[in-house]
Amino acid sequence: MTSRTGTGQPAAGRVVELLERERELFRRNHPGSERVHREARHLLGGVPFHWIRAYAVPFPIAVVQADGAHLVDVDGNAYHDFGLSGTAAMGGHHGSLLREIMTEQVPGPGVVTGWTTEDAGPVGALLAERYALPVWELALSATEANRAAIRLARAITDRPFIIAFGGAYHGSLEELHATAPGSAPGAGDSVRVLRFNDPEGLARALADRQVAAVIMEPALTNGGGVALPDPEFVAALGSLTREHGTLLIVDETQSGAAGYRGAGYEFGLDPDFITLGKSLAAGLPIGAVGMRQSHADAAARVLEAFPGGPWSLSGYGATVTAGPLTLRAARRYLTEVMTPDVYDRMNQLAQELSVRLSQVLARLELPWRVSTLGAIIGLSFREEPVRDGEDARAPDPVPGLRDYLFISLLNRGVLVGNLGGYVVVSPTNTERDIDAIVHAFEEATSLLRVDE
Ligand SMILES: Cc1ncc(COP(=O)(O)O)c(C=O)c1O
Repeated sequence: MTSRTGTGQPAAGRVVELLERERELFRRNHPGSERVHREARHLLGGVPFHWIRAYAVPFPIAVVQADGAHLVDVDGNAYHDFGLSGTAAMGGHHGSLLREIMTEQVPGPGVVTGWTTEDAGPVGALLAERYALPVWELALSATEANRAAIRLARAITDRPFIIAFGGAYHGSLEELHATAPGSAPGAGDSVRVLRFNDPEGLARALADRQVAAVIMEPALTNGGGVALPDPEFVAALGSLTREHGTLLIVDETQSGAAGYRGAGYEFGLDPDFITLGKSLAAGLPIGAVGMRQSHADAAARVLEAFPGGPWSLSGYGATVTAGPLTLRAARRYLTEVMTPDVYDRMNQLAQELSVRLSQVLARLELPWRVSTLGAIIGLSFREEPVRDGEDARAPDPVPGLRDYLFISLLNRGVLVGNLGGYVVVSPTNTERDIDAIVHAFEEATSLLRVDE
């Protein structure tokens, strides 16, 4: 006999019971993925890269096909992909574009030569037009772009400190992960970590004029909900950094999902540097740093005067950065895939989805909140808006809740993000995909309200 139970947060026992049931179902439906995992015993954790083990499943799914907003695994299970590799595949999976480029490029200018190609200038121009900063340098990833921006900011200002905000993520930089196991002693000594949306804290931390740069995500997107910046915080970031001679690095790696020109533009930020990564080259590894002309001139002077030899090994960068294939993919992806219309469509679908998910929560009287930034939708297990990293990273009110939602959606053919816990809508999604995720979410959340 079944009956509907309660309001407020779901019962802890019910979450435990459902989570176990979903894990069992996952094991039954994924024998091929389990075999792939078992056979990868020469890889650390049985996976090519350890983050994959963080998914709330007993073993990862092994993908055999990715196309648009859809994946198929080795067992033939099909998925609507709303995880999109944490926005790295925000534009959808574009294997066909890459195949086309590969046939053009090989044996054309190749994959990695250590030289430039005719695509380089146009890629710089496309980024300059979009993000209103005139000079760009490419990188291997967003982490590398942030490393470059921070190093250039320190070199240009000749100051030691940077400011970052709790709950933001800027990649696996040593100094921003100083509490992780294996960190170098003192790695975090030159970082001041502040609360997001706290202008007074910012004023205090900048006052001694020792801060080279503030690095920020325009909105926090790496937790269980999206924290938007208050207008007073945006104003303080502009006026205080100028007043104290500190540079502002705006990391648009994920918040770029807000629109064609990024979230900083939407919120009125005035960056000295913009950093990017992930969704720039149809999924190929890439990052980019944009800067004002005056900073580019200063950076050129720094790199020219480098003691190891002009323009040589400067402490950032990677040998395989921006090869011919990546440059061609970036040029075509930015021109043909991530157009202004595409951002409009993506954001419209995300808006529709967030309204429908909120309606499900209201119907079930679940005190949770859906928040959006363009194509990114965050879910927090509380009614109040998420304002900073502490809110975004608050533990589940009922242990296992986020894991349960993740695996129960997966078992219903819908993939969502795991580490940050968010949903990403791609321009290749259709109304059918939106219906699918709403139905799966409704079914998974309704079960939390049922006693069997
Ligand atoms: C805002 C932001 N910056 C930088 C990064 C680092 O990107 P990558 O791991 O591709 O270097 C991420 C990754 O999630 C991010 O969300």
